[in-house]
Order: sequence, then structure tokens, then C-alpha cells
Amino acid sequence: MSTVPFPSRLCGGLLVVMVALLLPVHSAAGKSSYTGVLSFGDSLADTGNALAHTGGGVGSQLPYGETFFGHPTGRASDGRIVLDFIVEELGMEYPTPYFAGKTAADFQHGVNFAYGGATALDPEFLRSRGLTPFVLLSLANQTAWFRQVLHLVRSVHAQRELMARSLVMVGEMGINDYLVAFFAKRTPSEVEPLVPHVIQAVRSLVNEVISAGAKTVVVRGMIPLGCQPQMLALFENTAGAEYNGKTGCLTRLNELARIHNRKLFRMVLELRLANLGRGVDIFYADQYGPVDSIVRTPRRYGFGEKPLVACCGGGGGKYNFGFSTFCGVEGATLCSDPSKYVSWDGIHMTDTANGRVAAAVLRSTGILRPKSLGVASA
Ligand SMILES: *[C@@H]1O[C@H](CO)[C@@H](O)[C@H](O)[C@H]1NC(C)=O
Repeated sequence: MSTVPFPSRLCGGLLVVMVALLLPVHSAAGKSSYTGVLSFGDSLADTGNALAHTGGGVGSQLPYGETFFGHPTGRASDGRIVLDFIVEELGMEYPTPYFAGKTAADFQHGVNFAYGGATALDPEFLRSRGLTPFVLLSLANQTAWFRQVLHLVRSVHAQRELMARSLVMVGEMGINDYLVAFFAKRTPSEVEPLVPHVIQAVRSLVNEVISAGAKTVVVRGMIPLGCQPQMLALFENTAGAEYNGKTGCLTRLNELARIHNRKLFRMVLELRLANLGRGVDIFYADQYGPVDSIVRTPRRYGFGEKPLVACCGGGGGKYNFGFSTFCGVEGATLCSDPSKYVSWDGIHMTDTANGRVAAAVLRSTGILRPKSLGVASA
């Protein structure tokens, strides 16, 4: 099956219109700096919320954090996540996790609302479909936290100023909604009906931040679900599992991720049109393409030959992923050079892979280009 990123499937004329729509509304000069980042998401974007809130969660013990921070920070990686690289490139401070701050001063450099295990959809909705979420936290919670933090700023005028000077990063969101369905033995075609609901939840959040005065919103897309060691292990030896002959990824899961991304992309275009003339930049940031490229030709990007094997994990096996020997628990093993691996723990990526994806996100959303912000790319 074809794995061409979706925009190239569109006919030329429409593509030109879409590209024009995706060009930054502001000139680079008008965007010399953001005060900070406001981030929403799940464990792919959590920089310490689950840890600060519960004292545990993924990323709360070594070897998480060993490559970059030197200690566990609640990030689900050996080092930095995509958000960290973007923040660094733009010369900003890491945002304070919502659960690690209280006052306006605590949050002056930005806030991260992303929470490991969070779903886009509400627990009640998932339960009504016979699904059990990992944690009882959805985008609705993150939206409520956002309102709380915004109200720490007294005047509405100052709130709008703050929003205008913030870079809002949304997602990836939805992976946990789909994962809980896969764990409940649903097939990709049974999971697909969830997609429009997930997109709707993301749309509500984006609308809310825009109403509050946000001028720059980046909506990040889904990664290739079928290339994730966890999913590969879950579907291993199941009837009907189909693999891409070149990559070894699960084709139908990747197709689900692309369906999600197409709908997300369309939603972003609709919101751009709806906000035309209001000086609002809304970007779709592709995260599927960069990961797919690495998995296809890992050596070209400096990775080892086995992009579908987790660096940290257990159970041996083809993907080094065991549901009971997860990275960080006793019996899990650690690879000797995480920088050669795409997957850190079978679900989340390594510091190196996250850096690559962040670079692609920065490139594809032109306004974030470090030079346009006057930041030297050291
Ligand atoms: C998340 O939202 C639900 C529903 O409003 C609420 O019951 C729950 O307490 C919230 N959780 C947190 C940690 O804010």
C-alpha cells in the first residue's frame, strides 16, 4: 500500500490553495519572540505532570532521563521530548508543568498541561463504548486547567496579551483513545469511528484558546501507530495482521493514523478559514512523515538497522517489548547506545529521534524557523 504523505495525493490546484492557506499570516518580524509555550497532550508531551500529580507514572524512574537530564523528570524518554527541542530552538524556557506550579509567577514562562495517559475523549464517552481509559483525564480536564491558569492573570486585557504572545502547542492527541480500544481487542476498522470524535475534541480546545486570544497554534499530528513496538508486540501472531514489506510496520494501524491526520489537517484548514483576517496562525504539524522516513531509511538519519526495536524494555522478542517488563521495571534491559534507536521504551521515542521530529516540525511550520525569530541555531 502507498505510504505517500497525504498532501501529495491531492491534485495540484487544490494543493496550491492549501499551501497558500498554510503560509504564516504574520511577517517574521512581527513574531520576534513568544513569552512562552502553552502545551496540551499526553505522555508524548508530558514534562512532569503525571509525576508531580501522582509521584509516579511513566518516566518517574531511571533509566528515563539518563541521556539528557541525568535524572527522571517525568518525560517519557531517555532525554528530551519533541516539545523540549522546539522550546530550545525558539530560545524559550521549558514550560512549567501545570501540577508543578501555583502562581502566575510560576507560569510566567509557559505552562504544560499535557498528562501521560490522557485521552482526547472523556472517560464517560469511552466507557459508553465499552472502553476503559488508562487514566481518568481527558482534554476537558486540560481545558479546565487552562482556564484556571488564565484566571491567575487578573485583567481580561492582560489575559489576551498573554495569549497573543504565547505559542500554543496541541497534541499529538488521540493515541490513548485508540490504544485503549486496541487493548479491548477492537480491530482498526472498529477503532476508526472514534476518529471524528477525537478530532472534534481537539477542535474544541483549539477554538477555546483562539477565543482566549491565541495568535499562534500548532496542532501536531499522529505518529505511525503501526511502527510502534508496543503495537507490533500486541498484534504479533494475530490473524489478519498485515505488514508493510519494506518497513515491517502494521499497515492497517498506519492507515488509521493517516485517516486521523487527514481529518486533523482538514479541521486545521477549516479553522484557518473561519479565523481569516483575525491575525491567527493555525498550523498542522506533520509527525507521521518524519517518523516514517526514519523507519524506512534509518541509517540515512544516523540510526541503527532496527528502528522497530525498543532500546529499553524486556521480554526479548522481535521488538524487545514486554507488557510486564516495561522499561524501568526489574528485568527490563537497556541498549548500549540509545542514540541509535528510534524507540526508547516501545511507546515513546528516544532523545535523538525526538530531536529529528522536532526539526521536521520546525521546518514544516515556517513561522517557527529559528532564523525568523532571530535565534542562532547552535
Ligand atoms: C477531570 O475531570 C473530571 C470531570 O470533570 C473530574 O471529575 C476530575 O476530578 C478531573 N481530574 C482532575 C485531576 O482535575
